[in-house]
Amino acid sequence: MKKIFIQDLKDFVGQEVVIQGWVANFRSSGQIAFWQIRDGSSFCQAILNAQDLSPEKWAESQKVSLETSVKIIALVAKHPKKEEYELQVKDFEFYQIAVEYPIGKKEHGIDFLLDNRHLWLRSPKQWAIQRVRNILILAIYEFMEKNGFLKIDAPILTPNACEGTTELFEIDYFEDKAYLSQSGQLYLEAAIFAHNKVFDFGPVFRAEKSKTRRHLTEFWMMDAEMAFIDLEDNLKIQEDFIRFVVLKVLDKNTADLEILERDLKFLQNIKNPFYKITHAEAIKSLQKAGSKIKSDDDLGGEDETKLSQQYDNPVFITHYPAKVKAFYMKRDTEDDSKALCADLLAPEGYGEIVGGSQREDDYDILLKRIKEHQLNKKDFDWYLDLRKYGSIPHGGFGLGLERLVGWICGVPHVRETIPFPRTIYRIRP
Ligand code: 4AD
Ligand code: MG
Repeated sequence: MKKIFIQDLKDFVGQEVVIQGWVANFRSSGQIAFWQIRDGSSFCQAILNAQDLSPEKWAESQKVSLETSVKIIALVAKHPKKEEYELQVKDFEFYQIAVEYPIGKKEHGIDFLLDNRHLWLRSPKQWAIQRVRNILILAIYEFMEKNGFLKIDAPILTPNACEGTTELFEIDYFEDKAYLSQSGQLYLEAAIFAHNKVFDFGPVFRAEKSKTRRHLTEFWMMDAEMAFIDLEDNLKIQEDFIRFVVLKVLDKNTADLEILERDLKFLQNIKNPFYKITHAEAIKSLQKAGSKIKSDDDLGGEDETKLSQQYDNPVFITHYPAKVKAFYMKRDTEDDSKALCADLLAPEGYGEIVGGSQREDDYDILLKRIKEHQLNKKDFDWYLDLRKYGSIPHGGFGLGLERLVGWICGVPHVRETIPFPRTIYRIRP
């Protein structure tokens, strides 16, 4: 008899099959019992009829509990009215009868659920979020491949800071110190001289003490870096990229978005070009709405929420004050106090999902910035070298995967978008 997955039931109507999974719910009335079965691929209902089973099997079936693992031999039937398939159970075997499962139907607090993350992953919404994340990962690779980017695996153990020294996780490295990478960007900058267009995709680490719904200490970033581009080219590719991955999820994850009860309005309406406003315009708009923010302040989480609530499509905030941004960003030739950069905010209040910029490509200016930021020149000699041997205009961007998943799934807190979240409060399970 054929072992199949629930997602393929439609191809086996009228046939006997084997399904292996877990009992996600059960009820019975008299001589009939209903088990909701979950096998990783999907969910379905299994119907046990006392008449179809031996008295011993029927008695055993009464021992079922939530999350009991089971092998079922059943006839596949189509629901008379709906596009749903059921299992008419002929025989079954328990792998293990689960002890009382801690996650029930009642409301649980978030701390309890996170303490039980190893089990919570099985719940329908959490299951759907990971399925969307998976499609996003595949879509990211597909877009990069279709657009001529080569994948470069940047190191995780690094001798220096990429984004800011206050956010570094320091570790012992034999007789020395090393740091966990905050972004592969600097290494990608080296690789464009060999490959022109490159990307990386992997875990990065931030030791910042942020307790917001947008911050993790370990998260997944995709950096892209391109030779011979300016800021405008950079934003254009980001628009194509974000639109591509959103449309891919709408195509592949319809059922998951339904489980998540996601309002699809804004996702379906995604259109290029995205909105573009300068940091100065963003400040004005916030001040008008009553904020005390000053013209050279960075945008905080609350500001991003307020701004992005005003838009029905993603919005780029460009030309931030250089002093609130990283040392490697090139300055605007028309106003040296501004960086040639853009953050992309997802609409509906989600806020920043991508950060990108033009990179400083002049040796002397870059050296000056390294000194201004009190970084150690010795650690950046290799990076400065790139400005000595055929320097070129270039730029790129970094996407935070969890922020993207959060927006697309309509989940406000990033802790639900990664299988095992790490925050300043949590490194377990
Ligand atoms: O804006 P960030 O810090 O930019 C960089 O690291 C650049 N080196 C990227 C580049 O130009 N190649 O981080 C990029 C993105 C942010 O837009 C955000 O989506 C995400 O990474 N991110 C975080 N996600 C979760 N938790 C955190 N603590 C995050 N910090 C940044
Ligand atoms: Mg940023």
